[in-house]
Amino acid sequence: MVYNKEFAEIDGVKIFIDDIDNYLAESYFLLFNHNKFNEAKLLNYIDQQKRKEYFKILTEAYLCNYNNVIETLSPLKPIVDTDKLLNVTTNRGNNVNMTLKDYLYLHRDWCFYDEGENQIESSVKLIKSYLPSDLQNALFLGCGVGRLSVEFSDIFQKVYSTDKSYSMIWHINKLMSEKSFEFFTPQQKNVYSLQEVAPKHTAFIPDTLKNTINQKVDFFVSDVLNLPLNEMSIDAAFSIYFTDVIALKLWFDKLNNVINKGGYFIHFGPLDYFFSDESEMLTAVEFKTFFEQNGYTTITDQILITSHLNDSNSMCFKVYRNWLFVAKKDA
Ligand SMILES: C[S@@+](CC[C@H](N)C(=O)[O-])C[C@H]1O[C@@H](n2cnc3c(N)ncnc32)[C@H](O)[C@@H]1O
Repeated sequence: MVYNKEFAEIDGVKIFIDDIDNYLAESYFLLFNHNKFNEAKLLNYIDQQKRKEYFKILTEAYLCNYNNVIETLSPLKPIVDTDKLLNVTTNRGNNVNMTLKDYLYLHRDWCFYDEGENQIESSVKLIKSYLPSDLQNALFLGCGVGRLSVEFSDIFQKVYSTDKSYSMIWHINKLMSEKSFEFFTPQQKNVYSLQEVAPKHTAFIPDTLKNTINQKVDFFVSDVLNLPLNEMSIDAAFSIYFTDVIALKLWFDKLNNVINKGGYFIHFGPLDYFFSDESEMLTAVEFKTFFEQNGYTTITDQILITSHLNDSNSMCFKVYRNWLFVAKKDA
């Protein structure tokens, strides 16, 4: 057993967070706020006199996304502590995104479009080429909606896959329990024709992969800063598009504690730092040196260019020079 504490279960989502009341209030707040944004769009579109077809398409998209978020929120509503909700301290400005981040990942991970499959396939293939085949288990940090962890499950007996976001893990459960999940990615600009303004997407997990997940992959909510895992219980820890979310100095010790001697740390991504403290925006070389000074030997340090969260309906997409860094913990 790798877990060192009990979990709470809300609407099928396993949650290993100590202050669960606060966590649920925060999760509710984030999603509720996002839906306020969807609602404002819908209200604004009612009065539009020009470009009626354009606004009709956008209205259908925002309405579906709005109803989706209501569905995610509804099991939380009766259990959220009102006092905690009123005291949520999360930065309000950061909570409203045009499209729920979950949908950008669902689009790449579970809609099986060429652009997403290409990103996944090339990165997974390169990373696997540096890993031995005799490792027992793996941990995926900030796993999003989980496709990458599932793609690695063939080389491990067991995969532990965690994210701090309630909705990311909720969406995986939703796909596991139902045939499909529909959502929209509205984009008011960078589009060629009305057809691309708000395409509807259908995410699904094929039955073969559902079986694999049931047998091998454990998805759960936890914070990398307080992992619910025993010391030296993990053979390979993956930080894919995650290293730049939180400063290394905050999570290195916690993660290092759970990695076995002779185990692996794998980073993949462009070091696109999403926090503001420049003193923690390490270069790749500094990052690698830090690991080497703390008991790891570098296995590889190289770049792979891929598109990122590319949606072929848009005339705009990101290309990343992803840094792949694989290091082995000294025995
Ligand atoms: C850029 S996304 C990458 C998702 C995934 N690795 C992928 O590439 O598909 C970063 C993820 O980290 C999660 N995250 C942020 N802070 C976290 C924390 N403290 N502990 C665990 N996950 C966290 C976010 O919810 C988000 O899903």
